[in-house]
Parts: sequence; structure tokens; C-alpha cells
Amino acid sequence: MTAKLFALLGSPVEHSMSPLMHNRAFNRLNLPHRYHAFDVEPDKLGEAVESLKVLGVAGWNVTVPHKVSIMEHLDEIDEEAEKIGAVNTVVNENGRLFGSNTDGQGYLDSLLDETGPALKEMRVLIIGAGGAARAVTTVLSRFGVKEIVVTNRTYEKAEAISHICTSNTEVKPMKREETEAEAASRFDLLINTTSIGMSPRIDDMPFPIENIREGAMVSDLIYNPLKTKWLRECEKRGVAIHNGLGMFVGQGARSFERWVNVLPDVQEMKRDVLAQLGG
Ligand code: ATR
Repeated sequence: MTAKLFALLGSPVEHSMSPLMHNRAFNRLNLPHRYHAFDVEPDKLGEAVESLKVLGVAGWNVTVPHKVSIMEHLDEIDEEAEKIGAVNTVVNENGRLFGSNTDGQGYLDSLLDETGPALKEMRVLIIGAGGAARAVTTVLSRFGVKEIVVTNRTYEKAEAISHICTSNTEVKPMKREETEAEAASRFDLLINTTSIGMSPRIDDMPFPIENIREGAMVSDLIYNPLKTKWLRECEKRGVAIHNGLGMFVGQGARSFERWVNVLPDVQEMKRDVLAQLGG
């Protein structure tokens, strides 16, 4: 089999876990391929894409700050990525570039691992309305949970998401004050899609915990730290917690699948990343 090169385009990328995760997965499956991270400044993205094409790089991931700007350099973008408005995975088929977004699917895979079929019956609150929120909202609405409410500091963005991301489940925007004051207790699953709680702002919480009811689940897309203050405080109150490691690994696994047509062992990938994070 011919060895292929896969890549990550982002900036910064030096702390990315993706090379380790993908290279280990290639090794485990006895595939001769390699994955390398490239630090690309925003104004060099077009040149970087042309270079990867010339070199025949078979596919790549795209991360911050290129997930939106990559779209203008691609030949085709799938419907879900179009809806989310961002691409994280590119497949290079003989110079023709196909973009997709595996963030949402990766998140759904990891969430289903925790909840099982009960997810269908859950009332979900999504906190934040940026790109990550669009990915999560799009897949949960397609999957068809019982209810989806989006709340955000800037209400207009929550309203915009409700129009863009709705499919099987209607997506409703709600003002922050209203959600915090009374509505929190009626949600079965609360998802933080903001960066609040991420290193170095590890002492902040994205949403008050007082009204979250026991028996509910909270999910944080952050995986560094593995347990944000919000998750720790919720856990103390008897609330089930789900961190962002599963989403990170899940999106990687789904990208891998698009490149080589094999879904790698997600649990093994998770173990590799956890070991690297010292968890
Ligand atoms: P990403 O693409 O990773 O989702 P983003 O598009 O910058 O990142 O979105 C970040 C989200 O976190 C936004 O919903 C943002 O709220 P605004 O729309 O009001 O900007 C939210 N966010 C970030 N910092 C926040 C803070 N300190 N308090 C409340 N919300 C915050």
C-alpha cells in the first residue's frame, strides 16, 4: 500500500493532540500513513492549500483560525458543513477538494456513549452560539432530541442559530436571564459550548449551577482541563458530567474514516490522548 500524508492546518498547532492520535491509529491498523501538523498564518492559507495539492497530501484537518476561511478554497462542501458554516475535514481526491465537518458527529457519538437511547427524550440547553454551538445544535436537531433551547450572552446570535440549525427538533432561542432564573431546572442536559473554563480562565463558570437539577447531565466541550470548574461543581451536586475529550477524539475518528474508509477504535484513541494529557 502506498503511504499517504495527512495534515492539520491551524495556528497555533504545537500543543495539538491530533498528530499523536492519528499516527497511533495508523500504526494500530498497520497503515503506512503519516499525519503532520502545520502552523499556517491566516494570510497564507491559500498558498498552504495549493502546496498540499501539489504535494499530493491526501487529506487534512482544519482548526482555529481557518475553519471558516478554508471554505473558499474547496471544490465541494457537504450539506452539514454548509449549515454549520465551517469545515474541519478535507479530502483530496486527485486535486479535487471536498470539505465536511465532523465536529457535530464526533460530539453526538461521544454523547450517545454516555446517554444511550435516553438522549431522544432529553430537553437540551445549549450555552453559547458560536461555531461549536452551531455544530452541536445541528446534529442534535437532526438526531431529534425532545427539546433544544439555545442561550447566549448576545441574544441575536442564539436567534440566528435557531433559524439555521433546525431540522427534526425545533431550536428555540432564550434570553440568558430567563434561562438562568427559572428554566434551568427543566433541562435534562446542559451543554457548554463557550470557552469559559478553558485554560487559563479555569476559575470561571459558563452558567450558574444552582438551578440545575439532580439527575440532570452537564456536558462541556472543553477537554483542557479535563474537568472544568463547572463540571466539578455540578458533580458535587449529584449531576452527571461529560467532558470534551470524547468530542475531540470523535471528530478525529470521523475524519480518519473519511480519509481511509475505516472507523478507528475510538476507545484506544481516547486512551492515547488521555495518557498524553496525563489524565
Ligand atoms: P467557537 O467557534 O469556538 O464556538 P466563537 O464563535 O468565538 O467560538 O463563540 C464563542 C461563544 O462563547 C459565543 O457564543 C460567545 O458569546 P457572544 O456571542 O456573546 O460573543 C461565548 N462567550 C465567549 N466568552 C464569553 C463570556 N465571557 N461570557 C459569555 N459568553 C461568552
